[in-house]
Amino acid sequence: MAIDALRGTRACVFDAYGTLFDVHGAVRRHRSALGDDPGAVSALWRQKQLEYTWLRTLMGAHADFWTLTCDALDVALERYGFAGDGELRARLLEAYRELDAYPEVTATLETVRARGRATAILSNGAPAMLRDAVAAADIGPLLDHVLSIEEVGLYKPRPEVYALACSRLDLLPEAICFLSANSWDAHGAAHHGLRVVWVNRFDQPVDRLPGEPVATIRSLDELPPLLDDDRGPSRGASGRPPPS
Ligand code: LAC
Repeated sequence: MAIDALRGTRACVFDAYGTLFDVHGAVRRHRSALGDDPGAVSALWRQKQLEYTWLRTLMGAHADFWTLTCDALDVALERYGFAGDGELRARLLEAYRELDAYPEVTATLETVRARGRATAILSNGAPAMLRDAVAAADIGPLLDHVLSIEEVGLYKPRPEVYALACSRLDLLPEAICFLSANSWDAHGAAHHGLRVVWVNRFDQPVDRLPGEPVATIRSLDELPPLLDDDRGPSRGASGRPPPS
């Protein structure tokens, strides 16, 4: 059933890595080369990649997400004894450019559009990474905007990142429905005033952070029923209702 908190939203803005694209797909493709516990390599790769976003933003030492993805992989490969394998490193990085999209992504984007919403990605990803991932998943025609934090040079959950979505879409925060499977990203966006749906794919406990999602779902195919049909009279670019 449509929920009131999402009534009047004009756009659905999606996080990319973990939400639209499965970050563990790269290791999955090459798991036979990664010993007894490929899942541990993938988990540490992701953990370090995210830690480096937070740390570099705190340090005032920005580098783009591709650099951090390479650095994080190097740490994970070293930790699990694959440091010297340059070919494996190259194959994993190549696979990361073309991660699998979750199976429900295309249908979700189509339905969101049919409900009268604009669609966008707002991601830490560097623009070229996002271009490759969007092309590999063949979802480019279903997206109105692909926004990278490179425009502000700071990583999520800095408020400037969520403000970028508002300014580029020309919408008030409350006119944006933001979706992320990364709980800390969901809290960051909610704290900035966006209407957040947390995609809790892995049954994680609720983080104790500011900002509260308006709904929690298990996968993106649970989103469309939450959205009312917004193809009625135009509300104007800001998302505010027209004066009566
Ligand atoms: C992104 C990170 C959070 O896509 O995975 O922004």
